[in-house]
Amino acid sequence: MQQSSADVLIIGGGIIGCAVAFELAEAGVRVCVLEGRRTGGGASQASAGVLAPYVEGHDSPVLRALGRRSLDAYAAFVARAVERSGWPVELARCGTLEVAVTEADAVRLHRARKMIAAEGVPGKWLEDRALIDAEPALHPGVLGALRIPSHACVNVPAFTAALEAAAVAGGAAVITGVAATSIAPDGAGLVVETSAGSHRASQVVLAAGAWSAALAPAGADPVPVRPVRGQLLYLATPPGTVRHVVWSSDVYLVPWADGTVLVGATSEEVGFDERATAGGVAQLLHAATALVPALADATFVEARRGLRPGSPDDLPYIGRSEVLPGLIYACGHYRNGALLAPLTAALVRQLVEGDAGDEALAAVTPARAERL
Ligand code: GLY
Repeated sequence: MQQSSADVLIIGGGIIGCAVAFELAEAGVRVCVLEGRRTGGGASQASAGVLAPYVEGHDSPVLRALGRRSLDAYAAFVARAVERSGWPVELARCGTLEVAVTEADAVRLHRARKMIAAEGVPGKWLEDRALIDAEPALHPGVLGALRIPSHACVNVPAFTAALEAAAVAGGAAVITGVAATSIAPDGAGLVVETSAGSHRASQVVLAAGAWSAALAPAGADPVPVRPVRGQLLYLATPPGTVRHVVWSSDVYLVPWADGTVLVGATSEEVGFDERATAGGVAQLLHAATALVPALADATFVEARRGLRPGSPDDLPYIGRSEVLPGLIYACGHYRNGALLAPLTAALVRQLVEGDAGDEALAAVTPARAERL
């Protein structure tokens, strides 16, 4: 048995695990991250990093509220990680343009604009000259678009690396290439079996993305997290070809300062199959070039894929186990792991410090899984 010197063992070194490790290390907690691959090597390496609660959360007031709170905290959280690590992270407040290709899209987006205005979020309907000026490369058949300037995007692989480095600078240990295989009670604490021995800790944070359900201890709270494959393309274009995050019902485009445009993403219920497929790539290329024809001339750089950790109500599970109080869940973030990372880190820190009073915890409690 390896005696971990950490008080809190975090299973999973994706953006959630690394954000939690950074936040806890900053709070003076001795933490250790266990990651079966490399840090950021799961869904995080494929994330487009879109921070857009008013696009992803059209139908869910709870997701919008959680996303807005996390988005409001984003710039300060990134700045802290950059300062601690010395690593650069691109965070662009580029806004989103959610486009209407059909009259039905336009009706839905006008309704969405009114809804978010009622929540105090500015959004503007653009069409004709105003739309061409905002996003000149859009297909001329696009009817109009809802622009939400407060939306942003973050380079997730760079941010995850910065969070890891910042956590390590704060005293965290990170073990990679060692996969956790089970969690069980052990006296007053927990024991985590791995592919290379056992670790004990008084508290364990389960942040293993799509693999979290398989690791939840037998007889503990069910956390029905399932894999949902997303494939995503990297295209190289002259900088400025695409200016906003452009979102349609078929595809989204995320522009970076160097001209890279990420094209996302498929959403496929194919279990733990992590392949990029010819069909997935073809679907994304077709949709992207239909929306912005100039992308047909882009350089194809690569296809990435990751398994989103889906939950039945699309909300994460963040909270203490009712069966094993030393176990804290931080999983099931589905399409919003990047967006919800700062909020998740703050909530887990509160839980570790013994404060369960944050009203957001009621919305994301793992106990709701039994009710769904
Ligand atoms: N958040 C975008 C996606 O999961 O594809």
